[in-house]
Amino acid sequence: MSDTYEKIYAQSLSTPDAFWAKAAEDVHWYKQWDTVLDDSQKPFYRWFTGGTTNSCYNALDLHVENGRADQAALIYDSPVTDTIETFTYRELRDQVAHFAGVLVAQGVQKGDRVIIYMPMVPEAVIAMLACARIGAVHSVVFGGFAANELATRIDDAKPKLILSASCGIEVDRIVAYKPLLDSAIELAAEKPSRCIILQRPQEEASMVDGRDLDWSEIVEGATAVDCVPVAATDPLYILYTSGTTGVPKGVVRDNGGHLVALKWSLQNVYGVDAGEVYWAASDIGWAVGHSYTVYAPLFNGCTTVLYEGKPVGTPDPGAFWRVISQHGVSTLFTAPTVFRAIKREDPNGDYIRKYDLSGFRALFLAGERCDPDTLLWAQEQLNVPVIDHWWQTETGWPVGANPIGVETFPVKPGSCTKPVPGYDVRVLDDDGAEVEASQIGNIVIKLPLPPGCLPTLWNNDEGYQSSYLSTYAGYYLTADAGYKDEDGYLWIMSRTDDIINVAGHRLSTGAMEEVLAAHPDVAECAVVGIADEIKGEVPMGFIVLKAGVQRDEDPIIQELIQMVRQEIGPIASFRVATVVQRLPKTRSGKILRGTMKSIADGVEYRMPATIDDPVILDEITEALAGLGYPRQNAQS
Ligand code: COA
Ligand code: AMP
Repeated sequence: MSDTYEKIYAQSLSTPDAFWAKAAEDVHWYKQWDTVLDDSQKPFYRWFTGGTTNSCYNALDLHVENGRADQAALIYDSPVTDTIETFTYRELRDQVAHFAGVLVAQGVQKGDRVIIYMPMVPEAVIAMLACARIGAVHSVVFGGFAANELATRIDDAKPKLILSASCGIEVDRIVAYKPLLDSAIELAAEKPSRCIILQRPQEEASMVDGRDLDWSEIVEGATAVDCVPVAATDPLYILYTSGTTGVPKGVVRDNGGHLVALKWSLQNVYGVDAGEVYWAASDIGWAVGHSYTVYAPLFNGCTTVLYEGKPVGTPDPGAFWRVISQHGVSTLFTAPTVFRAIKREDPNGDYIRKYDLSGFRALFLAGERCDPDTLLWAQEQLNVPVIDHWWQTETGWPVGANPIGVETFPVKPGSCTKPVPGYDVRVLDDDGAEVEASQIGNIVIKLPLPPGCLPTLWNNDEGYQSSYLSTYAGYYLTADAGYKDEDGYLWIMSRTDDIINVAGHRLSTGAMEEVLAAHPDVAECAVVGIADEIKGEVPMGFIVLKAGVQRDEDPIIQELIQMVRQEIGPIASFRVATVVQRLPKTRSGKILRGTMKSIADGVEYRMPATIDDPVILDEITEALAGLGYPRQNAQS
């Protein structure tokens, strides 16, 4: 049995052309590709060049034509508005075709960008698919980001149109989106000529004359339009993700490779078949939401769930089990933080036993490192396989997983199991040599990346090369550190850059430092991710004030917390900062962030040999003790 995975994995690397050409037979093409793997512009590899397809056609029309017209395509479940609404494939296709007509009427053409800044409502999914239908490039921006982050994305993507809503709902709190959109447009250098606003009954937004159009009014007069064939290599979407600075990276996803890889992955990694209900409980503003709430389940003729709620508080820690039993979900994909939040409120799993979960088959966790305690708790309570798997916004689909559609391996808690077929995962030391089994190093993927991974960054080929390809020639740098054990299992331990994962959300500490440094009283600062019982990691700021600043520290800290909320957004969860006299540095001036993190987490650390002045570490320890760090139950 054990050669099932071995064989498929080996084939995927030795004959990638044949492997992915076979997978591509499972999708609809208007015109077949000329070349499966086009390596004529190395290191920029392209998949299925010469082929034409349409992602929306594959997600909707194809299923309508092939007998799934009356099957549920999308279930919108919103405990925060007390709504459950089901769209069949036919209904969703019709609404998407109609909204695509709205886009065309507004002058949106193939290749134009459309920003979608919306909460978890069906109209957001309809908008994404409508863009795909006409070959426009969507860029969804997560609602928890502040106006400034949205403005940065507007300037980079230069959208022809922005789609938004009057508000989102966070448990029982209305979050007005429209004022954030208005100030983002004011901040941005690029001014979109039109915005289409969905007025939600919970809050009416004021409209800007001549620029804003009402969603429901404009849909009424529209005519449905058909799918437009696009090149396999044409962009389907841009998704911005945190880089090491305040400027986010525009990850590009193409149409053909994405379609083939996602369709293959749902069957082979997640073991899900057409007709099943698959739920990825992620906001559509993240990669998980794009790949596994919207595209992969629809490409596969599954029913997907769009959940506008939280794991706890909407109304209780049984929310997820209610959704699974009510809608017959077979497979759930979410982040470990969700389980930590549920476990805290329902440690004995009493809410789990209130629901019939007999149809529930597997739980997949990703987005951050899954601590073994959480995995074991979920396994024990749910009695289904709990699968930790690892990927990144850039790859768009799993790099390391227990690929249960191919073969199921014994779980080792803390490991994401094996490299997924298509990915040649290696572990290198700083000089680029492969390390021995079980030795920690830099995790890289030998080029070419499989289909579905980013071909480049939006309008930034150079940034793509410098961020990912230049450290080790011939390899993609994941910026994760970890190892492969003697059994070939992958262990992803930490990032090698300044990215942190807060409640499964990827954030840049560098971006937060840029915000803090702009405060007039701040001379120097460092932000590190410290362990948190629920969110895995949360940012903590260390602030050195300018000489001569006489103000009390507390109001300064409060101002800094507000600044991060204003500039980056509430999702950064930046709530703790402390003033220190100096920051610990190496003799060459590099701030020892890792050491500060170890002190805050109460983890043993070795005194860095190159430290400039070891006494500073005592000062840091003292400052942290004053704030109650290290904490007792923090995650590590
Ligand atoms: N729009 C506006 N604000 C948002 C938002 C959105 N879409 N999403 C989150 N926020 C706000 C929250 O209201 C909160 O604001 P506050 O500081 O005023 O309280 C802040 O951003 C932080 O939100 P969150 O990280 O969701 O923390 P929480 O304490 O409200 O909830 C969890 C904790 C664990 C329940 C929650 O983080 C969660 O469900 N995480 C899973 C996320 C996930 O699926 N991640 C990756 C996909 S695999
Ligand atoms: P994102 O691009 O937001 O999906 O974040 C990707 C990063 O999250 C990865 O580079 C890892 O650092 C981390 N990550 C995601 N899944 C896992 C996992 N299963 N185990 C460890 N780290 C993970």
